[in-house]
Amino acid sequence: VIGRLSETIRKGNLLLVFTKHGGELIGMSNFTPIFDKSGWLGMARTDPDWRGMGVAQFMQRCTAKYTKKSGIRALRFFVLSTNIASLRAARKGGFKEVAHATHVTCDLKKSKLVEFSKEFQQEPVELNEVRRSVYLSKMNGFIRYGYSFVVGNHSNLQYIQRKKELFGFKKSAFILTKPEEDYGEFSILTGGIKQSLLKIIEISRKMKDTGHFRG
Ligand SMILES: CC(C)(COP(=O)(O)OP(=O)(O)OC[C@H]1O[C@@H](n2cnc3c(N)ncnc32)[C@H](O)[C@@H]1OP(=O)(O)O)[C@@H](O)C(=O)NCCC(=O)NCCS
Repeated sequence: VIGRLSETIRKGNLLLVFTKHGGELIGMSNFTPIFDKSGWLGMARTDPDWRGMGVAQFMQRCTAKYTKKSGIRALRFFVLSTNIASLRAARKGGFKEVAHATHVTCDLKKSKLVEFSKEFQQEPVELNEVRRSVYLSKMNGFIRYGYSFVVGNHSNLQYIQRKKELFGFKKSAFILTKPEEDYGEFSILTGGIKQSLLKIIEISRKMKDTGHFRG
């Protein structure tokens, strides 16, 4: 959160909670509008002295009220499965668990993987095949997109395809979003995990070499 705070403040969707008397800062959370008219919540933090007193509930209600006015239809966020306090606060606020995901990271500075010599050949992605994929059904129809998750329906996939963030090769398909700051996010949609991961690393390396991002 600290590392991304300046960028978040700049984007202007940070909610801060102060006490009525004394103006002490006791809570914060962040909201990002997503292209499918959903809103992504993040960075929920309650001052340790104020936890368990409903601050997170209050922030969820305020965000819902604020976003409803701008046509946002659903609010989503992810919680680490080990974060019991956050899970309980979310359930109490009316959120429902819709999918479980695994997050893996590769540090491009440290990874020593085989270099690919051939140029990447982008192949057309059959959207109906993506929608029938095992990955999607295991994710209850959701796909990772950048820092958020969206429903993997035809129009959302088309949007991602138009943005040239949907990649296809050898029966594999994945999303690789344009890197923000020093990290990029990906999600495998069809095909083998190993070949997809290697291809994702290869493309990311190329982006890194051309100055798209550092990490
Ligand atoms: C998660 C967090 C934001 C919750 O904030 P909060 O202001 O304490 O939440 P609320 O007071 O609105 O909590 C409501 C419910 O959450 C649950 N909860 C809150 N703190 C809890 C704790 N320490 N252990 C277990 N459950 C807890 C309770 O069910 C509580 O309701 P109840 O006491 O009536 O049963 C806060 O614990 C926090 O800042 N954690 C560290 C950062 C973090 O994990 N952020 C979330 C990232 S997704």
